[in-house]
Amino acid sequence: MSQDPIAVSPATGNTGAGSTGDALENLLQENRKFPPSAGFAADSVVKASEYAEAAADAPAFWAKQARGLLSWHKDFTETLDWSNPPFAKWFGDGQLNAAYNALDRHVENGLGERVAIYFEGEPGDTRSYTYAQLTEEVKKAANAFESLGVAKGDRVAVYLPMIPEAVITLLACARIGAVHSVVFGGFSADALRSRIDDAEAKLVVTADGTYRRGKPSALKPAVDAALTAPGHTVGHVVVVKRNGENVDWTEGRDLWWDDAVGGAAAEHTAVGHDAEHPLFILYTSGTTGRPKGILHTTGGYLTQAAYTHKAVFDLHPETDVYWCTADVGWVTGHTYVAYAPLINGATQLIYEGTPDSPHQGRWWELIEKYKVSILYTAPTAIRTCMKWGREIPGRYDLSSIRVLGSVGEPINPEAWMWYRDVIGANAGKNGEKKDDPAPIVDTWWQTETGAQMIAPLPGVTATKPGSAQTPLPGIAVDVVDEMGESVPNGSGGYLVIREPWPAMLRGIWGDEQRYKDTYWSRFDSMYFAGDGAKFDDDGDVWLLGRVDDVMNVSGHRLSTTEIESALVSHPSVAEAAVVGAADETTGQTVVAFVILRGSAVDDADIVTTLRNHVGKEIGPIAKPKTILVVPELPKTRSGKIMRRLLKDVAEGRDVGDASTLADNSVMQQIAESLKK
Ligand code: WT7
Repeated sequence: MSQDPIAVSPATGNTGAGSTGDALENLLQENRKFPPSAGFAADSVVKASEYAEAAADAPAFWAKQARGLLSWHKDFTETLDWSNPPFAKWFGDGQLNAAYNALDRHVENGLGERVAIYFEGEPGDTRSYTYAQLTEEVKKAANAFESLGVAKGDRVAVYLPMIPEAVITLLACARIGAVHSVVFGGFSADALRSRIDDAEAKLVVTADGTYRRGKPSALKPAVDAALTAPGHTVGHVVVVKRNGENVDWTEGRDLWWDDAVGGAAAEHTAVGHDAEHPLFILYTSGTTGRPKGILHTTGGYLTQAAYTHKAVFDLHPETDVYWCTADVGWVTGHTYVAYAPLINGATQLIYEGTPDSPHQGRWWELIEKYKVSILYTAPTAIRTCMKWGREIPGRYDLSSIRVLGSVGEPINPEAWMWYRDVIGANAGKNGEKKDDPAPIVDTWWQTETGAQMIAPLPGVTATKPGSAQTPLPGIAVDVVDEMGESVPNGSGGYLVIREPWPAMLRGIWGDEQRYKDTYWSRFDSMYFAGDGAKFDDDGDVWLLGRVDDVMNVSGHRLSTTEIESALVSHPSVAEAAVVGAADETTGQTVVAFVILRGSAVDDADIVTTLRNHVGKEIGPIAKPKTILVVPELPKTRSGKIMRRLLKDVAEGRDVGDASTLADNSVMQQIAESLKK
């Protein structure tokens, strides 16, 4: 592992890419590159000249995109106000309406009959919405929410599965200027409640439930549980009937979607909102126990969402069928499902379920059925499909695929090559191969950046397995050392962003100071992303994983501290330390070391109990895969837990330098206890 370029990540050696480093090293030496074919390059919607254009004057470049890609109720006169950093204002005196941009204007432009959404439910039920139909649904939902007392600026919590009503709800909120706060359906009632409270949400939109691997899976009970204790701000709960399971009902508070929205008027005029009007809050894990409500506003966010979606996926909206597999509970499902594809007038597929239900070929079957041409997914999904075997996608005709995207964590070169050969080169179900496989775009960004920041342009860039490569036009990325000095190519350091960008977060909901402290205080006048990175000799960016106490499990961000807090909130736990251990499929898995109290030591079920406890406190996604009961935890003299050493244990390595431990017999004790 010592030669592994990923393992030399700057601070903690926290990688997120695990055992893939050796292959990465090989590929770095081979330096394979895959230039776009002549045909692809000729039809590319963006040209290489955009880099130079944006470099000459980035704000002017973004102003041009804002006017070219969006329709404004009132044009702006000032592009960027950075007079009070780190609080940016983009297109500050302009006004626009996100829903009008995603819907009405396409209908007005004669595209009303184009399919906006093909929906496929997990049980195989289907629906589709043209732009005209989707516009009507959003207008009705906007009227319904307004009649429930939701006004401009009010917050709406959304706890929905991946069904069209999720997109309709987000756009209806945006239309009336209400601020949506989506809580992933995999989070618990407790997590939902704390997010409802933090944002003081007035309305909750949920469903009776969804389906998971052929079985109904409930959502409404978690909303009921979240609202049991008094003192919340929620007046109404709107419930989509999805799986038809029985639900408890609170008269006066709960309404069925079909009654509230189905009965609403289909006329609703979209007014312009200020470019800096809040569009949404989305909670994400940080280095402390408390999730942060990342705040995004309207004009800049939509500009970068639309531009990157067009440029990075080489979108041809008249002919492409686009599919992003992300759930609306994550930022990818906001920017690249609810907003950008619709702003750009594209046709997209939304699928409710898991890739292996009812069989492991479901995704590829869907691609064949809908002739998907652009697929955007996560490395963990690709690695899972690799494990299931290439013959499964080989049974389907994937020849429609033109562009393949990746997001959420570093994609290791083996997975990249598999994606290219097995998915991107598939030209039919009888093993036919394309001469020019679909280009892969590995996209680096974050909840906080709002939209893609580093990615190849598929018609311009010669792509490289494992590297996200190039900051997008108008984005100023650098890699710096501890002192904030740029490091030479080939050296690892901290990824920073040097200039404000349109889709940047505008703050943390209700906590200005935390916004400054978290992102802008580590280095002077630079945004600190929390990732390690390096430039290679070609100047391409390689992401090296998080440098803080944030884990990446299946492309989902989890905080070590948050899970530790959940564990110690259980009466049987005296102390806990959590680390992310490298995992071939999920990038990392959660491994917890716990010291038990008194009689819990003899409890044979304690591991199950604690896993379930974390599931209840945070959600099933946060459950530790492994819980190791230990007599002590390794600490420095100042009392800081040395997670690095625990990571060595969790990953089955020899334990590294333990000389700064307060008690250097601790690692011995841990090793002994784990042998038992
Ligand atoms: C963190 C952000 C962006 C939407 C999904 C995750 C990691 C994301 C990549 C990539 C290497 C990546 C980073 C980042 N990450 N994309 N292409 N290569 N790492 O959003 O939950 O806000 O997580 O995900 O560590 O900081 P998020």
